[in-house]
Amino acid sequence: MAVDNVKRTKIKQILAEGKVGEDLCVKGWVRTMRESKNVAFAALNDGSTINSLQLVFDVHQTDEDTIRKITTGASLSVTGTLQESQGAEQAFELIVKEVKVLGEADPGKYPLQPKKHSMEFLREIAHLRPRTSTFGAILRVRHEMAYALHTFFHKKGFYYLNSPILTASDAEGAGETFKVTTLNLENVPKNEKGGIDFKQDFFEKETNLTVSGQLEGELAALAVGEVYTFGPTFRAENSNTTRHLAEFWMVEPEMAFYDLEDNMNLAEEMLKYTVNHALKNCAEDIAFFNKRQLEEEKCKPQNERSELALIERLQLVVNNAFERLTYSGAIEVLKRSKPNQKKKFQYLIEGWGADLQSEHERFLVEKYFKKPVILYNYPKDIKAFYMRRNEDNKTVAAMDVLLPSIGEIVGGSQREERLNMLEQRMSEMNILTEELSWYLDARRFGTAPHSGYGLGFERMIQFVTGMSNIRDVIPFPRTPGNCEF
Ligand code: 4AD
Ligand code: MG
Repeated sequence: MAVDNVKRTKIKQILAEGKVGEDLCVKGWVRTMRESKNVAFAALNDGSTINSLQLVFDVHQTDEDTIRKITTGASLSVTGTLQESQGAEQAFELIVKEVKVLGEADPGKYPLQPKKHSMEFLREIAHLRPRTSTFGAILRVRHEMAYALHTFFHKKGFYYLNSPILTASDAEGAGETFKVTTLNLENVPKNEKGGIDFKQDFFEKETNLTVSGQLEGELAALAVGEVYTFGPTFRAENSNTTRHLAEFWMVEPEMAFYDLEDNMNLAEEMLKYTVNHALKNCAEDIAFFNKRQLEEEKCKPQNERSELALIERLQLVVNNAFERLTYSGAIEVLKRSKPNQKKKFQYLIEGWGADLQSEHERFLVEKYFKKPVILYNYPKDIKAFYMRRNEDNKTVAAMDVLLPSIGEIVGGSQREERLNMLEQRMSEMNILTEELSWYLDARRFGTAPHSGYGLGFERMIQFVTGMSNIRDVIPFPRTPGNCEF
């Protein structure tokens, strides 16, 4: 039987529905190879599942040179007969009839060895880390979650909107944009005032990579009702944390005729739906992450250990109504809290108006309510210009969804749909109304109450996989000082 003539079967399918005695062809990469006097065993993985297929070679029947090339990382095309496994670890193994080494991986040079590598080391070889169990699982979970999000919105009648990547606006007004230019940086043209003459630039104005697709999302929602974006967003914030990337993917639904409460309901329903999808459709990968996390927890000091295992945290989202609390209510809880009284918080809560840090968010979720929390009605001065002002003139109709171990995963608001209020807020915040006159047009013509939010896709993947660093849930992370691969 020639290796090249048999149709390839994926390992996931073989492990699920293989039949003893079947002749099969498999292709993949060697994870481990172990040789004894008469037989050799190789674990072959093809990425279709976290599990590998055990290949059994008769050492005497296989060319010596070929056996020598079957090392960790090598790619193989193999034909053989499926049989019940002798070992307890797997149901099946493949008795190899013919093997072709498609690509060797010199054991002296291949950086991945069958042992535990640190996450830091794997980040340095991000071009090879998809070959590890952890990152294979990450890639599959990312795919399933993206699929679940599209399915959720599609079923609800939302339209997928492709908002632009290149833009002249800074939607969040935080000034953390990456500039985009074709000007010659060694000889930048100047205007009469001595500033950069962007009139000579590609777009004839200053441009940057988008920090959010929201503003364009609003334009579409105020025409077709309900839309969502799902695309890359870019932030040049110099924060080296385990929850920030310079390039991350964001899902931003935007809905006409939704008020803040409708907005919160949608976010909660979306999180329940997608986490439930993961529990059902990524069961093997999540079981792997659950085990991985239990091992990691064991290495932590007692007081830093999480009270819940990964799967329990996921079930917490699916099975509980989220706690809803105003910002003012949260400040009261935090002021009276033990870590605040005992000065254990890095940022002490002294009074109303303080911006909440991740330590406060996690206290509310993990210690106080012990379930997901939605905070709403934040002080206007710590939120973006587009949020709808409340009657009290102090707060805006903003909301953040907080999850255990992550903190903020969703941020959104009801939008200011009243033209005069919006113009007033923009002028208070020194945002030029001329620059955003297209955005204001949505209020000038046929304005309507509307709301939306942004979900950080990588934070969601962190939540579902329990990975502690956001750099380990995106294939090729971009952070300050890192843009390799
Ligand atoms: O809270 P943010 O900044 O909200 C917005 O951008 C709004 N325009 C969204 C909207 O209303 N349409 O960001 C939304 C979410 C955060 O809750 C967080 O999950 C994620 O995006 N996020 C990041 N994820 C990774 N790295 C970063 N640097 C992030 N910044 C925000
Ligand atoms: Mg936010």
